[in-house]
Amino acid sequence: MKFKRKILITGGAGFIGSHVVRLFVNTYPDYLIFNFDNLTYAGNLENLKDIETADNYRFEKGDITDALLVSDLFHQMQFDGVIHLAAESHVDRSIDNPMAFIHTNILGTVNLMNAAREIWADYQLNQRFYHISTDEVYGSLGETGLFTETTAYDPQSPYSASKASSDHFVRAYINTYKFPAIISNCSNNYGPNQFPEKLIPLFIHNIQNKKPLPVYGDGNYTRDWLYVEDHARAIDTIFHHGQRGETYNIGGHNEWKNIDLVRLLCRIMDEERGQAQGSAEQLITFVKDRPGHDKRYAIDAGKIKTELGWQPSLNFEEGLLLTVRWYLQNEIWLQNVTSGSYQTYYEKQYLNRF
Ligand code: NAD
Ligand code: DAU
Repeated sequence: MKFKRKILITGGAGFIGSHVVRLFVNTYPDYLIFNFDNLTYAGNLENLKDIETADNYRFEKGDITDALLVSDLFHQMQFDGVIHLAAESHVDRSIDNPMAFIHTNILGTVNLMNAAREIWADYQLNQRFYHISTDEVYGSLGETGLFTETTAYDPQSPYSASKASSDHFVRAYINTYKFPAIISNCSNNYGPNQFPEKLIPLFIHNIQNKKPLPVYGDGNYTRDWLYVEDHARAIDTIFHHGQRGETYNIGGHNEWKNIDLVRLLCRIMDEERGQAQGSAEQLITFVKDRPGHDKRYAIDAGKIKTELGWQPSLNFEEGLLLTVRWYLQNEIWLQNVTSGSYQTYYEKQYLNRF
């Protein structure tokens, strides 16, 4: 079949990437969607079971930091679009091992842009390199104010410094080579398929297993939460309608202090599991703070709303209920992730076929 477009999605086996891959595979049967992912601990092909045999989907295991491999792939596939999500994404891991973040998030991003430049010499109108970034590049807010697209960068963790650096490289390529790139910076995502090292899935897992819920510091840290499918829709909108060279902030207008979020989550978990109200809250345990913990993130998503017509579709209570129900109905997924057995899925599905 001849495809209208060939889109490379990096990190498509991860949390957000798998929702983006599914959305694109199902919405655009005339596009080839090529998922390139190294299947680190965060990459899980079980996330994509429902679309893995679709005619317009391909998967290849590979590392974005491998310049030769990436260059060969671009020459072979002649992609005309890239949605780049592959990254090391967990702040706590970046505090333990910054080098992995520098390697993947900075070097990997530059490798991909170099490979795209090799085959996109004339920068036709439909060619675009869409770099997915985070609101953490802007640093930490006080009690008031919002991050806009022009807020100065002030990253505070090794993770956010690596993402900020990759954003700077993308902008430098736009400026120097007129490289056809777009950036978006999004707030905290939640929803199905998130690896249970991040706050919401970790706490759901711990409540199910009657383990303590480790709230960092006093719990008065604020995040702006967005349902992952709303982020995937925003990515679709920006990829197709965003202006090359521009940046778009994406957020939920949905600020929660961690401790309030955890209490709401506990209430929903008790209701959904038929437990007496207050059972899950007993597991809340205040623990030593994250070093350099950013106080507050909050996004002004006015530009994407005004210029591209995107806004979140769910309120937080609805999204959190959907999320809790998904985890309760997909206990096997959570078991496979926490036992590590999801890592054999690739061998079973892809290597043992030949
Ligand atoms: P994730 O950790 O769930 O998934 C990352 C994916 O990238 C995994 O599938 C992993 O295998 C793959 N990967 C990692 N290193 C790779 C490499 N060297 N080569 C190829 N593949 C590699 O991450 P996520 O939460 O889905 O985040 C996706 C992107 O969105 C990241 O760029 C992140 O910075 C950004 N982001 C995340 C959030 C959030 O709340 N999760 C918010 C804003 C932006
Ligand atoms: O803002 C976007 C960012 O959101 C993304 O770029 C990152 O990839 C993503 O991991 C996320 O970063 P956070 O550090 O905000 O997410 P995390 O789920 O790790 O933590 C959310 C808040 O909860 C934060 O204030 C730390 C706190 N926390 C987290 C964990 C894992 C706890 O109190 N206890 C915990 O056990």
